[in-house]
Amino acid sequence: MRKPLFITLEGTEGVGKTSNMEFIKSILKEKNIDFIETREPGGTPMGEALREMLLGEDFKGMSDDTELMLMFAARAEHVAQVIKPALEKAQWVLCDRFTDATYAYQGGGRQLDVKRIEGLENWVLGDLRPDLTLLLDAPISVGRARAGKRSTPDRFEQEMDGFFNRVRDAYLSRAKAEPDRIKVIDASGDLLSVEKQISVLINSVIN
Ligand code: TMP
Repeated sequence: MRKPLFITLEGTEGVGKTSNMEFIKSILKEKNIDFIETREPGGTPMGEALREMLLGEDFKGMSDDTELMLMFAARAEHVAQVIKPALEKAQWVLCDRFTDATYAYQGGGRQLDVKRIEGLENWVLGDLRPDLTLLLDAPISVGRARAGKRSTPDRFEQEMDGFFNRVRDAYLSRAKAEPDRIKVIDASGDLLSVEKQISVLINSVIN
């Protein structure tokens, strides 16, 4: 039996995660791969409640440490209730954001100590890591222009360009450090050119 893969999708705001997630799903379906789709923060009832707290207006002034720990609290629940059970049943897991987002947003954006993130990652994940991470990359101005057309910005989307440039840089330096796992996709062009790049990568792990 083929080993089930854990695939994550990452990127800054407006890079096209939603439409490309649909595209990846269509490839997996076409190949008759049994998979689940999930997201972070979220993916469980508790995780979705934490997502509301993290993204909404009610706790807008939470400290950066609280934010980091809530991300990992949601993740601990997600890994235990959803991700590990699926992989154990040989289902592939397709996840919209995972721990690389914490390194990028809380490490890069909020400038929290990376050692703290590593400690939480090792604690919460043990040796579980994604097998493949697709990083949709585009200049912040490009993503902003696309995201700007959508509804009210959440707590992260309200951040300034300086924050998002640090997030992008942190993502790119992780990709540089782990080139076998994290594949950078140029998302600044049209959807078709992005789909072509994704198709090559997903098909290479399927085969
Ligand atoms: P999105 O998944 O709809 O893009 O929104 C989730 C937001 O949460 C996004 O702005 C990135 C942020 N986030 C973090 O800051 N740290 C994390 O660990 C995760 C998973 C998401």
